[in-house]
Amino acid sequence: MKDLEPEEQPHPFLVFTHWFHEYSSKSNSKFTGACVLSTVGEDGLPNARNISIKGLEYPYLIFGSPTSSLKAKEIDANKNVALTFWWEESMRQVRIQGVVSKANDETSNFLFQDRRKEAQVVSLISEQGAELLSWEMLEGRYRIMLEDMKDKEIQRPEHWSGFQIEPFRYEFMEFRKTRLHFRKVFSKKNDGWEMKMIQP
Ligand SMILES: Cc1cc2nc3c(=O)[nH]c(=O)nc-3n(C[C@H](O)[C@H](O)[C@H](O)COP(=O)(O)O)c2cc1C
Repeated sequence: MKDLEPEEQPHPFLVFTHWFHEYSSKSNSKFTGACVLSTVGEDGLPNARNISIKGLEYPYLIFGSPTSSLKAKEIDANKNVALTFWWEESMRQVRIQGVVSKANDETSNFLFQDRRKEAQVVSLISEQGAELLSWEMLEGRYRIMLEDMKDKEIQRPEHWSGFQIEPFRYEFMEFRKTRLHFRKVFSKKNDGWEMKMIQP
């Protein structure tokens, strides 16, 4: 709670970074960066899926994804996205709204090299979201490619990129047993941030 004392008015990116690392150190999850990414579909309908935040580089939250994916196409048409984190070990929720763009080559390459070999191979042989006509064929290509690349470094394919989200709104919530949840909202206004507490 100390981070959120009103008189301190910390930058929301700092509060988020602190909460993120605190959860990562407490949690046994292998996916401590997991959160729900919501996009607006080209049909105007909301769409959501889990992703993993892999980097925090002010002012961005960074993840990686194939550029052929549905989410990438949706992002191309509408840059406004939302992220929702639920950190049970900390009993905290964070909601973020922001604008997404592609990360530069350096960041994208770093994210790709940081992935497990299996994940890199899947990125090479699969077109995420395209119709699958034969599971056997896909699995066969996966096995061959994994064997071929066993001792080789895999370069990031052109159809895979880092994406960076620049938030314009953060909501921090501490979940309380009393159900008097503590909620604080930061909204970007010109060059600064306006902060207010909101009711549970
Ligand atoms: C815990 C978890 C983390 C995930 N992280 C990512 C990720 O960082 N990037 C990604 O493209 N997909 C990730 N996925 C898979 C997505 O949820 C989704 O199935 C995939 O990206 C296709 O989504 P789309 O069709 O909306 O593009 C993750 C799934 C789970 C369950």
